[in-house]
Amino acid sequence: MSGIEILPLVKRDLKRIVEIEKESFPEPWSMTVLRSEIEAGESRRYTKAVLDGELVGYLGLMFVDDEVHINTLAVVAEHRQHGIASRLLLDGIDAGLDRGARHATLEVAVSNAAAQALYRSFGLAPVGLRRGYYAKGEDAIVMWARDLDAPQEVTRRTAIKESLG
Ligand SMILES: CC(C)(COP(=O)(O)OP(=O)(O)OC[C@H]1O[C@@H](n2cnc3c(N)ncnc32)[C@H](O)[C@@H]1OP(=O)(O)O)[C@@H](O)C(=O)NCCC(=O)NCCS
Repeated sequence: MSGIEILPLVKRDLKRIVEIEKESFPEPWSMTVLRSEIEAGESRRYTKAVLDGELVGYLGLMFVDDEVHINTLAVVAEHRQHGIASRLLLDGIDAGLDRGARHATLEVAVSNAAAQALYRSFGLAPVGLRRGYYAKGEDAIVMWARDLDAPQEVTRRTAIKESLG
C-alpha cells in the first residue's frame, strides 16, 4: 500500500486513538494515559500512519538505556494486513537506532497470534512469560530482538521494506 505517511502523533489525534484503542484491545489505554505518554518527552516516540488524510494506525515506543520498548501498536481493523504496522515498525526501529538503541522488546498477549507473527517477522523472539500480566489475567509473552544493527537484522528489515514497495 503506497501513500502512507508516518508522522508524529499529536494531542489532537488522541480522541481518534482512544477509539482505535477500544476497538483493538481488551484493556484499552485511557485518554489520560495516552496524553501522559505523548507528553513524557524524549523517552517516548509516538507516531501515526496516515492514509489519504485518515489516521489508520499508531506506534508508541519507549527508550530505556539501549533498548527500545514497543509500548503500543495498532492498526484500524479495515486497514490491517496491508503492511501499515510494518511501516510503523520500520520507521520506529530506524529512529531508535539513530538515538542509540540496540535491542527491542515488548510484551504481547499469548492469544495475540497476529501480533506475534508480525514481531517474529521483525526478528523478535519469545524469551519468557509474564503470568497474569494483563488486568484480566491473561499471560504475556516477552519478545526480544538483539543487536538491531547487526547485518542480518538490517538485511531482514531491508527485505520487509522492499516487499512493501
Ligand atoms: C497486530 C497488528 C498491529 C498488525 O497490523 P497490520 O498492519 O495488519 O500488520 P502488517 O500488515 O504490517 O503485517 C505484517 C506481518 O505480520 C503478520 N500478520 C499480521 N496480521 C496477521 C494475521 N491476522 N494473522 C497472521 N499473521 C499476521 C504477517 O507475518 C504479516 O506479513 P505478511 O503480510 O507478509 O503475511 C494489527 O493486527 C492490530 O492492530 N491488532 C490489534 C492490536 C494489537 O494486537 N496490537 C499489538 C499489541 S502487542
